[in-house]
Amino acid sequence: MPDQTTTQPRYIVVEREEPIATAIINRPEKLNALNWDLVAELADALETLDHDDAIHCIVLTGAGERAFAAGADIAEMATASPAQMALGPFEGWDRIRRVKKPIIAAVSGFALGGGNELAMHADIIIASEKAKFGQPEILLGIMCGAGGTQRLARTLGKYRAMELCLTGEQASAQNMYDWGLVNRVTPDGQQLEEAKKLARKIAAQAPLAAVLTKEAILAAFETPLEAGLLYEKRLFALLFSTEDQREGMQAFLEKRPAKFKGR
Ligand code: COA
Repeated sequence: MPDQTTTQPRYIVVEREEPIATAIINRPEKLNALNWDLVAELADALETLDHDDAIHCIVLTGAGERAFAAGADIAEMATASPAQMALGPFEGWDRIRRVKKPIIAAVSGFALGGGNELAMHADIIIASEKAKFGQPEILLGIMCGAGGTQRLARTLGKYRAMELCLTGEQASAQNMYDWGLVNRVTPDGQQLEEAKKLARKIAAQAPLAAVLTKEAILAAFETPLEAGLLYEKRLFALLFSTEDQREGMQAFLEKRPAKFKGR
């Protein structure tokens, strides 16, 4: 079970370059394998950034060239009981899923199992040309547990999701780009800078509009079109209560750049 007494993060490094921040999974000697403490620390770090008004967009990456994350920690899971598996890791994953600010994953090397599932918790994925994606759980006698079957099916479609999850084979960054999971493929080593560049662009937008846009797009996966359209309309109207809406439109009319304040 996660060590509740831990106060200093052991596995996560946060680098702030306001208005963006980068959360780095820092366990390269184990290819950034996601043990339960690590997932809890990552959720803590992302929640803290989510509540920080100075940060508008978050980049998520793995330390080292070799892996974004090579999956859940197999050594930890090998002898786990069903109750430990039910209670141990999933609270952290749910907290990561609920982060409101846009998250961009910068993937180099392996994004396998929980690593691929974590990348899919991000809103945009930038990958090195050498990145490898996959869900190898079936090779261990188990299956995806942090959203892999659901998010792959929604993004890649049934047939590609079936093949990846049923064979455990890895897909290249170019494959994932062609199939719609990766936004951009960069030369190896440039994925983090490209992700930060995009994060700065997103961070320059009106922050409340960005948060509600993320919420609306994610709602598209949960709702029928009619309900989703209504939800979007309500969020759209809500933004007319913000100073940034006034500023954005006034700036356009005055032919000057907008100065957004996140209010
Ligand atoms: N859990 C725990 N430890 C892991 C791990 C994981 N998911 N993935 C890698 N590691 C550890 C290895 O045990 C090794 O530790 P060691 O040096 O103390 O022996 C270290 O990370 C380096 O990995 P290694 O396997 O030696 O590197 P490789 O280049 O030979 O192979 C992979 C790379 C990614 C192909 C291989 O590590 C692998 O298959 N990992 C598991 C992927 C997986 O099944 N993920 C889903 C889990 S549900």
